[in-house]
Amino acid sequence: MKQQGTAPVYSASGYAALDAYLKIQRPSKTFLMVDSNTSACLPGFVGQLPHLDGNFEILEVEPGEGSKSIEVAAGLWSVLLEYGADRNSLIINVGGGVVLDLGGFVASTFKRGIPFINVPTSLLAMVDASLGGKTGINHEGIKNQVGTFTSAELVLIDDAFLSTLPEEEWRSGHGEMIKHSLLSGQNWPQVLKLTHQTLNDVHLKQSVDTKLAIVQSDFKENGLRKVLNLGHTFGHAWESWCAQHSPISHGSAVIQGLHVALYLSEQHDALKALGQSYPWIKVDADALDDLWTLMQADKKNAEGQVRFVLLENIGNPTFDCPISGDQFYAAVQQLNSL
Ligand SMILES: NC(=O)c1ccc[n+]([C@@H]2O[C@H](COP(=O)([O-])OP(=O)(O)OC[C@H]3O[C@@H](n4cnc5c(N)ncnc54)[C@H](O)[C@@H]3O)[C@@H](O)[C@H]2O)c1
Repeated sequence: MKQQGTAPVYSASGYAALDAYLKIQRPSKTFLMVDSNTSACLPGFVGQLPHLDGNFEILEVEPGEGSKSIEVAAGLWSVLLEYGADRNSLIINVGGGVVLDLGGFVASTFKRGIPFINVPTSLLAMVDASLGGKTGINHEGIKNQVGTFTSAELVLIDDAFLSTLPEEEWRSGHGEMIKHSLLSGQNWPQVLKLTHQTLNDVHLKQSVDTKLAIVQSDFKENGLRKVLNLGHTFGHAWESWCAQHSPISHGSAVIQGLHVALYLSEQHDALKALGQSYPWIKVDADALDDLWTLMQADKKNAEGQVRFVLLENIGNPTFDCPISGDQFYAAVQQLNSL
């Protein structure tokens, strides 16, 4: 099984690579894992794989975070046993980040690990969740508390799946693409202006390559990989706070977090450009204490300090930057007044 970030294959050549994998590996059984939305992607997908030859079982879960649970994972292990799955069986995850995280977790733990393939269908899964070898489920209401570092055998990206993706889900992936372009410095203002209609394989590949280059230099997140948390320290706290009031998507929360990171990095031009595409959402002064408390619980902190990823300039991130409560409160107050 692969142990580090796997480079994806794209569209037609991707289907050819996956079909060749099926021809050579000849899995004893193949399982297609979907949720009840991404099951609609299957007819087009299966039709491009002659060596699948109609010989598969479908594992379908409910859409949403609720499926990333030990109960759902245990149910899937049982179904695999019922079908007689063995170490030579294969799971192909066709879906967003939830299906990929769950399917990867089930595969990497069943019989101490069977191979799996990721076929992301959401933008976020294409540029983020399908890459980097993290699998996982949620536990005790906390995201991704249990999981493994195990890479997929192959990642196939087909942007045709995006035609049915709801706009809010598109924005979620766009937030991560914006983050990648800030980290790499590649095409930063152009990526910001992308829309559902203008996005193509070249943009996807650039974003994917940025994440992969970082992951491959630090697979187990001991150092540089932390830069992928740009925008996430405040973003996660904002997402959790909003969840108790008026829930927002992960992508919207990350974009809000990027505002804070750019402000603290003194990247004023980039902050202005971001605000033109995605305006800052005013934060109620009453929420600041709660938000600070939430950020203090961030698992990336150390030595009792809240630590941010910041940018020395566009394309040049730095991590483990301690930020005091005073700096944070001042930043949000300034952003509110712009
Ligand atoms: N493993 C990692 O490194 C990593 C990185 C980032 C995020 N994640 C995880 O990914 C998850 C979020 O991923 P997501 O945003 O893809 O969420 P998701 O899987 O819940 O997908 C979002 C929604 O879009 C639907 N959908 C997906 N593709 C579709 C398509 N082509 N057409 C129509 N509907 C479609 C899904 O059914 C779902 O309702 C979170 O659980 C997060 O923790 C993991």
